[in-house]
Amino acid sequence: MEIITTIGSLRSRLRQQPSIAFVPTMGGLHDGHLALIRAARQKTGFVVASIFVNRLQFLPTEDFDRYPRTLEEDCRLLQNHHADVVFAPGEKDLYPALQEFLVDPPSMADTLEGEFRPGFFRGVSTIVLKLFNIVGPQVAVFGKKDYQQLHILREMVKQLNLPIEILAADTVRAPDGLALSSRNRYLAPEERCQAPRLYQTLRQLGQEIKSGNTSFRELEENGTAVLDRHGWKVDYVAVRDQNTFAPAQAGNERVVVLGAARLGKTRLIDNLEV
Ligand code: PAF
Repeated sequence: MEIITTIGSLRSRLRQQPSIAFVPTMGGLHDGHLALIRAARQKTGFVVASIFVNRLQFLPTEDFDRYPRTLEEDCRLLQNHHADVVFAPGEKDLYPALQEFLVDPPSMADTLEGEFRPGFFRGVSTIVLKLFNIVGPQVAVFGKKDYQQLHILREMVKQLNLPIEILAADTVRAPDGLALSSRNRYLAPEERCQAPRLYQTLRQLGQEIKSGNTSFRELEENGTAVLDRHGWKVDYVAVRDQNTFAPAQAGNERVVVLGAARLGKTRLIDNLEV
């Protein structure tokens, strides 16, 4: 496995590579990321992973400074999972000057995560487009844990005619159901015990929906109330149409239940397709 830190060397390394599967990450790798690498490996013989904590997708009040930076350990894991190249650029490589050209995502990016993290999807879409332009992959793999991100990046690829297949990989969970996330390491031991409740709550709503309850707004309120009662600070519990991301209506064939809430200072997100 090669570790490459500059755009120029990456481009020359990949020039002769006919088929690349790409896994963009911000590092702090866990089994969820490694599942993305495995999915990429099944698609093509050559896997590139990137590690870059993208300042552009953090609000000034968020955890950019303390976001886990574990490059050595990340590279060890990637090597064990047979990634071919790790692209780990510095900030000056990707943002040598103020990034004034930005990808402006559609209004679906203003709801849910976008409402609570304004500018987040602009930052994500911009860095992902830049990375796509640098790596030139045929396939890119993203996790379903960041469900809205996946949806928006799929739309970006479609609407900007990028010749890239987006592959979605299932969320990887701890045995108690907690979705793996780089931010789980912020949780204090008592918060870690409480953390699976987010997924449990989404599952309860999922059960109700499966058994025919279509009072989606009421279900959202109930889910929020359960988490509130257990000391969470809820940003949203929402039932959305899987394809359009619009608030679910009776008659929608496939919905997704999404939640974002804080335990102490740690913000967790999760979702469940129903
Ligand atoms: O999902 C992430 O880790 C990030 O949002 C991504 C896609 C690597 C862009 O920085």
